[in-house]
Amino acid sequence: MLSILFLCVLSMCARNKVPAGMFRTECQDQHFWLAISSAFLGQMFRFETEGRSGVYPVSDKRAAQCGYTMLLDSRGDLVLRASYLACDVDTEDHAGVQLMVWFVNKETSGKETSHPFLLTCPLQQWNPREIVCEENYMEVSVKKPIPPVGQKGQEWMTPPPKRSEQGGVKEWRMVFRVLPDAQKDVTSLPMKEQTLSLMEAEQLGYHINSTGTRIVLRCGYSSPLSYLLQEKGVDLETVSVTIFYRHQWTLLRVDASVACSLHKGTMDGTHILWSIPQVFPPLVQGSIRDRGARMGVGGSLLSDCVIQQRGYKMEVRAGVMEVRIPFGADGGYVKSHVMDGQYAQSYSIDLYYVQQWEDAQWTLTRHCSFRPLWTSPRPRTLGLFNLTVPEEREFSLTLGVFPPDVSLANITILTHTVTPAVTEELGLRVFQVPFTNGTHSYLLQVPFSHPLVFQKYLGKMYRRYMLEVNFTLLVSPHGQVFTHPASVACDLQDVVLPKVEGHCTDKAVRLTLHRGNMDTQWAILFGNHRLEQQLVELGRYSLEVEDGYFVVEVPLYSLGMAYEDLSLQGLLTNVAVSMLDVETGTVEQTFVQHCTFQVRELMVCLPNNWMVVVVDTARVVPPLDPWDTTLLDPMCGPKETDHTRALFSFSLDSCGTIKSVEDDGLVYVNEIRYMPQYLPIPQYFFHPFYYYSQPVGCRYPLNGTRTLAIYQSHLLPRSRTHRSHKGQHPIVRVPCEVSCGGDGGFTRRIEGREVNAVAMRCLWMKPFSDIN
Ligand SMILES: *[C@@H]1O[C@H](CO)[C@@H](O)[C@H](O)[C@H]1NC(C)=O
Ligand SMILES: *[C@@H]1O[C@H](CO)[C@@H](O)[C@H](O)[C@H]1NC(C)=O
Ligand SMILES: *[C@@H]1O[C@H](CO)[C@@H](O)[C@H](O)[C@H]1NC(C)=O
Ligand SMILES: *[C@@H]1O[C@H](CO)[C@@H](O)[C@H](O)[C@H]1NC(C)=O
Ligand SMILES: *[C@@H]1O[C@H](CO)[C@@H](O)[C@H](O)[C@H]1NC(C)=O
Ligand SMILES: *[C@@H]1O[C@H](CO)[C@@H](O)[C@H](O)[C@H]1NC(C)=O
Repeated sequence: MLSILFLCVLSMCARNKVPAGMFRTECQDQHFWLAISSAFLGQMFRFETEGRSGVYPVSDKRAAQCGYTMLLDSRGDLVLRASYLACDVDTEDHAGVQLMVWFVNKETSGKETSHPFLLTCPLQQWNPREIVCEENYMEVSVKKPIPPVGQKGQEWMTPPPKRSEQGGVKEWRMVFRVLPDAQKDVTSLPMKEQTLSLMEAEQLGYHINSTGTRIVLRCGYSSPLSYLLQEKGVDLETVSVTIFYRHQWTLLRVDASVACSLHKGTMDGTHILWSIPQVFPPLVQGSIRDRGARMGVGGSLLSDCVIQQRGYKMEVRAGVMEVRIPFGADGGYVKSHVMDGQYAQSYSIDLYYVQQWEDAQWTLTRHCSFRPLWTSPRPRTLGLFNLTVPEEREFSLTLGVFPPDVSLANITILTHTVTPAVTEELGLRVFQVPFTNGTHSYLLQVPFSHPLVFQKYLGKMYRRYMLEVNFTLLVSPHGQVFTHPASVACDLQDVVLPKVEGHCTDKAVRLTLHRGNMDTQWAILFGNHRLEQQLVELGRYSLEVEDGYFVVEVPLYSLGMAYEDLSLQGLLTNVAVSMLDVETGTVEQTFVQHCTFQVRELMVCLPNNWMVVVVDTARVVPPLDPWDTTLLDPMCGPKETDHTRALFSFSLDSCGTIKSVEDDGLVYVNEIRYMPQYLPIPQYFFHPFYYYSQPVGCRYPLNGTRTLAIYQSHLLPRSRTHRSHKGQHPIVRVPCEVSCGGDGGFTRRIEGREVNAVAMRCLWMKPFSDIN
């Protein structure tokens, strides 16, 4: 039935090109409705209406008296509602009602443009009495009672007024019932009556007129002759008035009282509650018959189905209709705020409510209320949903729902702040998820493997992935900012620990380290030393880095290698590779590779005053039986021998070891001698053929920690010429070089002879500190 005409008057339209969708018009429940998009509104704007007497701007005062309502709705659009009974409405045309409205827009340039609208709506079937409680006025219109033809009334006025006057309205009289001065209680005292002429009433802000079949009274709220009334706990503003008018020569009277609920709405838990009494005592005579109530939004009624869908409720409680609207329900408007850094929302809705009844006077009264309801901002907890599916190895979480005035400015993970536009480049994904009802939420997806995802080893191959993120959101139009933190975690048993394989080469321990899949969690220890560049350099390790693994070669006697034992089979050492959980400092796993290295000669000084020595007599000519060698104490013989070598293992406090203190060192010296059993003892020293002496010794710091030290003899290659030359000196002293920076040398007198005990090369000043 909508029949709206957007009329181009004059040549306006041609000059003012208006983008589509800027204007909307509707015929709503008993009123015209015109909306101008917020996008179209200039710096200043106004409406003008055009009637028979000219074009007038719609001021606040005129709007209240003439039946116009202007408001900016929740979207910021400008809305004009005009009663079908408004001042400039043309009811002459039987096809419908028409109103000529001009929208005057003043642009920033200062230029004013006018846009004309001829609003046309089909003529409404009027109820005998219609009461409208608009936002800015109260209006009542009643069917003009016409007495039966021929009825003689009482003489109205002397002298009789001139016939020419239109409808004789000027001679009407209004009798207002008002409260006696300073009177509060309405019920107990008789009301005072005050009779006014139409002109006088008009001056007090009461618009009274007749439109052929109806009489209309309209006034703003808090008008001078109105009074407040409480009905069942609800404040009513009431204007009680009887209009006396003339029909031909008959004096007639009609009640044109109006009353509106002033209830502003309250919060009732999560609902807005608005109350209105079912019966308005000033408006009824005799008993009433309820003809039902309906509600709607923004001037349009809604079907029961929609009302139920949106969760609106209408309930009568003790004669009062209670309308409940859930906070945030469809039909209203949610606005975002930031309070103390927290997200908050307020909610507003333009309630429209209509109730109908019958009473003794009027066969049907229709009472409509337009009530904008709103709440103050209340903190809202934001829904944060964890949609992570562990198998997808990706965090997925949503934040929201948000009304359209909230947008995501950026997100912060650890110290990285990124705007949604660049997240993709960083391997994150942020989506705005729109819903059909205009709201949206944000979806953030971050793969577990992302560097910004924190990982924590929980033991037993479990690891915890953790994501901590701050969403920074922006509330338009004022640009307030708030931050919402989110943290999600997921535990998975997906850890592959580093794996070590080892084997021995001639001169090194070769270790292959597979990284596993959480190598940031582990520090690799070789012995007690962390595998770092410094260790690689100090220990002269060779390092080959491959994809997914690396190979380290730890040379013999190098840092990280531990002494286990020395025997004629060789030097038994190990390299222990441990995985240290960098977070807890605990060792998760240790791998030990044992290797035995062939050695010909070696001297080991253990920290506990113990010495192990292997000597080789192979170069001695003529060959001697190593079994016949002893230490200074001839009772201390070798523990083990083979063809040419002998192994001694003895306490430095025994076997004739000579102990002396020198500088800051404690020096122990002994000697390995050839002691053939069948030679007379006094002789062997001087017997040139059997003189064999190999000084050995150890040196410890006087105080301070003792460490194990290994000395290796530096043997010259044996040659024939060498042997023949030394033919006459069959005992060959193998020359040895000092290589410990002079520091480890032992030159001692033993039994009157000066011997150079530094037969061994010092290999390592602080080796094998890792012996367990
Ligand atoms: C009353 O209505 C008539 C037309 O219906 C109009 O000409 C007249 O100006 C109105 N009076 C007032 C006071 O608005
Ligand atoms: C809008 O839709 C979303 C998703 O369906 C829902 O969570 C939210 O509550 C709705 N909001 C309103 C105001 O209906
Ligand atoms: C994140 O967005 C907020 C709001 O726009 C802004 O104030 C802040 O500076 C942004 N942070 C960074 C690091 O860009
Ligand atoms: C989030 O913001 C809070 C408060 O500003 C701060 O304490 C916290 O460290 C931030 N978290 C992240 C992951 O940025
Ligand atoms: C999120 O989801 C994951 C996977 O379902 C779950 O393991 C975790 O406990 C959830 N909660 C939080 C707070 O991260
Ligand atoms: C040995 O220790 C003593 C006392 O602790 C100290 O005075 C002395 O200097 C130390 N000697 C050396 C060589 O470090």
